[in-house]
Amino acid sequence: MRSLLNPVQRWLWRDPVRRGHRLLRFAEVEADGGRDLARAAELTADAKLRRLYLRHASDEQRHSEIFRQRGTELLRAHRTQSEPAWQPDWLAPGERGLDDVKVDAGGDGPLLAFLHLSEAAAARGFTTYKEAVGDDHDTRTVFATILKDEEFHMTYTRHELARVSPRRQGWLLWKARFGRLWKGYLRIAVAIAGVMGAIVLTLQYFILLPPFAWAAKRAAKRETEGWAAASAPRDLKAQY
Ligand SMILES: [Fe+2]
Ligand SMILES: [Fe+2]
Repeated sequence: MRSLLNPVQRWLWRDPVRRGHRLLRFAEVEADGGRDLARAAELTADAKLRRLYLRHASDEQRHSEIFRQRGTELLRAHRTQSEPAWQPDWLAPGERGLDDVKVDAGGDGPLLAFLHLSEAAAARGFTTYKEAVGDDHDTRTVFATILKDEEFHMTYTRHELARVSPRRQGWLLWKARFGRLWKGYLRIAVAIAGVMGAIVLTLQYFILLPPFAWAAKRAAKRETEGWAAASAPRDLKAQY
């Protein structure tokens, strides 16, 4: 599947302006992830996890700055700020995919399971993007640098999940996997419903509207032009 998508990814990353905008989006996702992890550090009662969450949060903040800097450089080099009309987030998602972290729900176990899966997906994604940017050395270096941290995030979340939930770790991972799949299914269903709605409305426009337009034109032809006398005298004291 990954090798099938590679030509699509190369095409997606080829345009430097689109590349710049994608990196700016990634910067937003990383900054958002950093804020979520700082919040997780506030909420946890586990001292070791608090330390790790805080380090994780500062890594994500740093990633955000690295992505923003490179994205801005690319856009400045091409003297444009206007975004391409088509920006498919679902084809090249940032660190958390398209999902947001639910820090307050369920404690450290479910959070670590979610983080482990999304960090693993980020590591896979960034490896693909690193190859897809071709001869853009600076962007390639950006992905290579960030990838090392993502691999650490992926590993520590798995170890900590085994420590804080030794019995439920397998179940929590499956639950998180199912949650990601379910949200993916919902996004696809919403996209298909949008396309179907557009098709049905277009068909209605071309099939149902013409008879009414034709009838209106016929009725308009029967009307006499200009002012016409009322057919019956009206009571001048009445409102209508
Ligand atoms: Fe990151
Ligand atoms: Fe990360």
